[in-house]
Amino acid sequence: MVEAIVYGILTMVLGFAIYFTYAFKKMEQTAISTDAPEEKQSFLSLAYGYMYTIIVIVIGIMLLVTWYFVRNTPWEGHLMEWMNIVVRLMHITFGIAWIGASFYFVFLENALNRTDNVRDELAGNLWAVHGGGFYYLEKYKVAPATIPKHLHWFKYEAYFTWLSGFSLLFVVYYFNAKGILIDTNVLKMSSWVAVSMGVGSFVVAWIVYDLLCKSALIKHTNAFTIVGFCVAVGFAYLYTHLFSARAAYIHFGAMLGTLMAGNVFFVIIPSQKAMVNAAKKGIPLDATLGKKALARSLHNNYFTLPVLFVMVSNHFPSTFGYEQSWAVLAGLTLGTAGIKHYLNLKEKGQYTVWVLPISVAILLAVCFVTAPPKNNDACTKQVDFADVQAVITKRCVTCHSSKPTDDVYTAPPNGVVYDTPQDIVKLKDKIMQRVVVTKTMPQNNKTNITPAERNLIRCWIEQGANIK
Ligand code: HEC
Repeated sequence: MVEAIVYGILTMVLGFAIYFTYAFKKMEQTAISTDAPEEKQSFLSLAYGYMYTIIVIVIGIMLLVTWYFVRNTPWEGHLMEWMNIVVRLMHITFGIAWIGASFYFVFLENALNRTDNVRDELAGNLWAVHGGGFYYLEKYKVAPATIPKHLHWFKYEAYFTWLSGFSLLFVVYYFNAKGILIDTNVLKMSSWVAVSMGVGSFVVAWIVYDLLCKSALIKHTNAFTIVGFCVAVGFAYLYTHLFSARAAYIHFGAMLGTLMAGNVFFVIIPSQKAMVNAAKKGIPLDATLGKKALARSLHNNYFTLPVLFVMVSNHFPSTFGYEQSWAVLAGLTLGTAGIKHYLNLKEKGQYTVWVLPISVAILLAVCFVTAPPKNNDACTKQVDFADVQAVITKRCVTCHSSKPTDDVYTAPPNGVVYDTPQDIVKLKDKIMQRVVVTKTMPQNNKTNITPAERNLIRCWIEQGANIK
């Protein structure tokens, strides 16, 4: 009954908001076509924007309410999975739009024709063909004589990437903090403490980074890079000593992503707004604004590859599963940012010998260091399957069973169950990978498997995984 009332009210609010987005848009169009006063037009477009905000907030509340109602029922997992699908798709889509636009503008800047037949007021132009059409673009040295009414801003890509990413962090890690954010072998803490530390770390990271950018250090590129890198590695070290390895990686990526979105929100867009205003009023432009925005945008450019790696890192247990996983993160960050540096130099026509080879060497070194040690213990004794099954029952079946007894997992994770000998044999390759090679199962070694037991499983698989 309560459910019906709550949903009823929320649906009504949602219905009104949807209707008014349409109504305000119509009114705005009429206002524009009848040349109504500027104030009226901007009021309507603002109102239209607010309606969208209300829609988003109401949908968010509806989801929270749904979560509250299905908590501790079999539907909780299902709801989480669908939230995961929707939010993840949004995050990927906005992320592609943001990074795609950013790569495109860096390319434009580097590929502009700056010499042939360029009008005085222009920095350059570019002809391009794409999707069956020819495009001609011009870049102004400073600003056009009059700022056009329809000026496209690239900002929502960044904001929505961050917002959807932050939501995904909640859906995957924070709502299930006990299950996958906290690893009691790393640090015992409550869900609230863990989530607050995660969110708080982003704020701290932004403050530290912003202070660094405003300090005198920014004038010395090399020193700034070294200090910035050390701070980033410090965060990587901190995260891997607070959270489970996967969560630590994602937090590192989310931290860098927060700096990127923060750069857009707090520096790049405000500088551009100030520039547009100055151009409109015909007052001279403050050249430092453009410079500051450019520096931040360059930092974002160097963050992209490390962030993209982290976003897919969850698929690679050999990286986060390595003992000094923060060092792996540091190596991958340095190597991938180095590759981006090489690409940037190359686009500008500044060819270098060593940047690319050194970056690749760093990545190869990471690959080499994380390789599993060769296991020299020969399996002398024939392993009895009954012993293997006993280990699996004791260490895995609490989670991986059609009826798990674990306090967090009420359904078998990834659908993996080990109820029968056939179930076990079917997945022997994955078991080898997760239990023996990367040691990322049992999850966070919650069930305290011993090295001898891992070895027993290895020998059984190496001897042919017989179940008789
Ligand atoms: C505390 C609960 C828990 C325990 C105990 C546990 N697992 Fe898992 N397992 C998970 C979760 C959660 C996932 C999904 C996330 C992941 O892949 O890390 C998973 C995934 C897996 C996968 C990957 C499946 C895929 O589709 O890629 C394998 C294989 C696996 N577990 C094997 C084992 C084995 C073998 C044991 C016992 C030695 C074990 N697990 C113990 C929670 C557990």
